[in-house]
Amino acid sequence: MCGIFGCICKADNVAPLIHTGLKRLEYRGYDSVGEATIEDGKLFVKKDAGKIDEVHLKCNLDDLPGRIGIGHTRWATHGAPSSVNAHPQFGCSSPPRFAVVHNGIIENFAELKRELEDNGHVFKSKTDTEVVAHLIEEYFIRKPQPDERRNTEPAGVSKFEAAVFKSLSRLEGSYALATISTHEPDKIICARNESPLVLGISEKGRFFASDVPAFLPLTKSAIFMRNGELAVLKRTSFTIRRLSDRRIISREPKLLDWTPEMAEKKGYPHFMLKEIHEQPESLRNTLRLQDKYLNLLTTFLDRAHEVIMVACGTSYHACLAASYMFSKISYLATHPVIASEFSEQHSKSANIDSTILAVSQSGETADTLAAVETARQRAATILGLTNVVGSTLTRVSRVYVVQQSGPEIGVAATKTFTSQLSVLSQLATQLAKKRGKISTEEIDLLEEKIKLIPEMVEQTITSQESKISSLARKFRDEKCFFFLGRGISVATALEARLKLMELAYVPSIAFPAGESKHGPISLIQPGFPVFFICPPGETRKTLMGNISEMKAREANIIAVCEEGDEEIIQLADDYVEVPRGIPEVLSPITYVVPLQIFAYRMATEKGYNPDMPRNLAKSVTVR
Ligand code: G6P
Repeated sequence: MCGIFGCICKADNVAPLIHTGLKRLEYRGYDSVGEATIEDGKLFVKKDAGKIDEVHLKCNLDDLPGRIGIGHTRWATHGAPSSVNAHPQFGCSSPPRFAVVHNGIIENFAELKRELEDNGHVFKSKTDTEVVAHLIEEYFIRKPQPDERRNTEPAGVSKFEAAVFKSLSRLEGSYALATISTHEPDKIICARNESPLVLGISEKGRFFASDVPAFLPLTKSAIFMRNGELAVLKRTSFTIRRLSDRRIISREPKLLDWTPEMAEKKGYPHFMLKEIHEQPESLRNTLRLQDKYLNLLTTFLDRAHEVIMVACGTSYHACLAASYMFSKISYLATHPVIASEFSEQHSKSANIDSTILAVSQSGETADTLAAVETARQRAATILGLTNVVGSTLTRVSRVYVVQQSGPEIGVAATKTFTSQLSVLSQLATQLAKKRGKISTEEIDLLEEKIKLIPEMVEQTITSQESKISSLARKFRDEKCFFFLGRGISVATALEARLKLMELAYVPSIAFPAGESKHGPISLIQPGFPVFFICPPGETRKTLMGNISEMKAREANIIAVCEEGDEEIIQLADDYVEVPRGIPEVLSPITYVVPLQIFAYRMATEKGYNPDMPRNLAKSVTVR
């Protein structure tokens, strides 16, 4: 999983544009970086292992010449991070004539490599991508073979384009890739299969990128490429064709309403902190969703014989919380399933009567899309909840809702989690209305509470941030934490544990509080830090018992509780307060916020960059 970006401009030197575009894609991977440009019929290249800033400091990425170029920020899948494995990758001609950048995995690269080596190609890197550059080179120079389409390419397809078409037809796996060649230096060719690719169209030129924020400061006019499509970008024009039959596809650009500022840090030291602070606003946006979409989705949920929710990471925790919401508010049983397990668990049982609600911030997570595909093949109905219009999930879903959180750059999901929960809770209340299971008064009350959530989150951040920072200082050197809750708070506990683990590298344990006495409690020694998530409601009384069990073993109790909840506060050694009045069934949306801040502060206390946790990427487009 990597970020690709490139452009062809009328007047500007593209290298600095590519450099800044790649910076905005760094969340997709950051172990190596590279750029290639063309000027006066020659390819110019800079690439190396390291984060973009490190490589730029070493070799100045901005001084490559030319008005056409491609760039890449890498998250290694094949071959360790190194200069030779960094993209762009090249064929074997010297000086190089073809350069390729790629996000995805070419599954049959070993077999293609053997074939190309038999034809005399010499490989330098350990990447799967290098085969693409050699294939294009091979098809460009090769004499027509009887079994190839060389002579049947439609008018208007150039020699370079034909070589790319032929090369792509040999690939198995996923890709968003782009290539340039000194043979036809007036164009960038890019194509998509499974990995995301979007085009930017402006007066100044044409752009391609793995994600919109890369070119947002340059243009808001975008075209989302679909699987099996290839685009040829020229300075003032572009053509999109279908890979299967080369047919030209006409597609109008969409005008995006994301501002470049939305994708920048706005003065916060990290994107994650900015995104935590943006939650009141992103939650308000979820209240503006059009009823007709929520209604349509709930109609499908209402008719479903079984509802399976699939997602990964934080989105899975949203599904877990939502399963309590659907059960308690709309009396609907749903099954939250980790997407990578879906096929093992449900590929035989899912059928025409199954409804799959896929939840994915990016709409591009490979495991989630694979689960959706398995379900589609079993004739199940696919519903989607995502943050990205035009993402694959929006295209494969029968009905989808866009959560309207704006871009999230921090690798750890924060604002998108609370927004997902806000949307899911609205779906649950809509569904309850349809099903007539709870009284109108109860529904009105829930709707009123959902509307108050943005304000409550704002208050939590303002009133608790400095207290949470002190807690992070106090517990900075702890080696393990417990996160415990009952009912819907189990999802909050799991999400809090994930945040702390992925950002501050503290291996921790999250459990249903009732289950902790069946094993985890044996870890407790005096001073062991145990977070309890204590919203008021049905679970609170039993939870008090669980707190006492831990206290009896001298654990250090940190309670996340309702403002002024004296009973809990008396039991706790430390506590963080959340505004009063949120019903337990909605509580993860507010109770998770102090825990996000805690994980963020623990990471910064320990000197880690929370925006770039090691070995992780924002959008995992490989399985
Ligand atoms: C990655 C990210 C997580 C995210 C998960 C699912 O692992 O690091 O923050 O929750 O993918 O992403 P999605 O876009 O499908 O919600």
